[in-house]
Amino acid sequence: MSLHLGVNIDHVATLRQARYRTMHGAHNVEPSILKAALEAEAAGAHSITIHLRADRRHIVDDDVYLLRREIGTMMNLEMGNTPEIIGIALEVKPHFVCMVPENREEVTTEGGLDVVGQKASLHASVSQLEANGTRVSMFIDPDLDQVRASAEIGASMIELHTGTFANELGEKRQAEALRLKAAAELGQSLGLQINAGHGLTTKNLPELFIVPHLAELNIGHSIVARSVFVGLRKAIQEMLEAMKGYPA
Ligand code: PXP
Repeated sequence: MSLHLGVNIDHVATLRQARYRTMHGAHNVEPSILKAALEAEAAGAHSITIHLRADRRHIVDDDVYLLRREIGTMMNLEMGNTPEIIGIALEVKPHFVCMVPENREEVTTEGGLDVVGQKASLHASVSQLEANGTRVSMFIDPDLDQVRASAEIGASMIELHTGTFANELGEKRQAEALRLKAAAELGQSLGLQINAGHGLTTKNLPELFIVPHLAELNIGHSIVARSVFVGLRKAIQEMLEAMKGYPA
């Protein structure tokens, strides 16, 4: 199977909220999150990723329901493990859920989820979601204990946090790529699907490609940033082109 791309369109909603936070449903609200999702699909995205944060700073509840109804590919809902958001996920039934840690003050998701430290509550949520038809992923640092714990609580997938890989350069980046490789190898041997994401760009992807068994990358910021200059469709096509370098 070729490497799949989940396009994270949170930042399309970030732009909308910058002006229209209090004006939902008004005739002049833009940009449309649905148009962005359909454009991503037309460009070849395999899934649409959105993060419903507790503070609703970008994606809001209506977006989740609208996209679930209208998109033609898969929905990947990123979320914190809280009763409120779990309730929404059980109602919406996204194809995938990716559990992430959430702090109100952070700019974006910082650091992976501590699955080891929250096994009981995560296990309960994973069981509910998986029984409801949603495949669940754990967004974790490339830490072998976190990989093992993800398998033990019954998750189908892990998404390896590539933030450190993206932020470092040279030998430090190479060392992080090796950590990601070891985590991917262990995850695969435990029967987990291996995804990755955070901070990935067309420029840093080639150095990630030593990591085996990757099924899907979730990429947002660099695609939306690039789309300012070339449009969303071209930005996604450029990313898909860069992903073709991943060894089959
Ligand atoms: N995967 C997860 C779990 C995330 O939280 C994020 C950031 O929202 C991404 C992938 C995408 O990261 P970026 O926007 O840096 O491409």
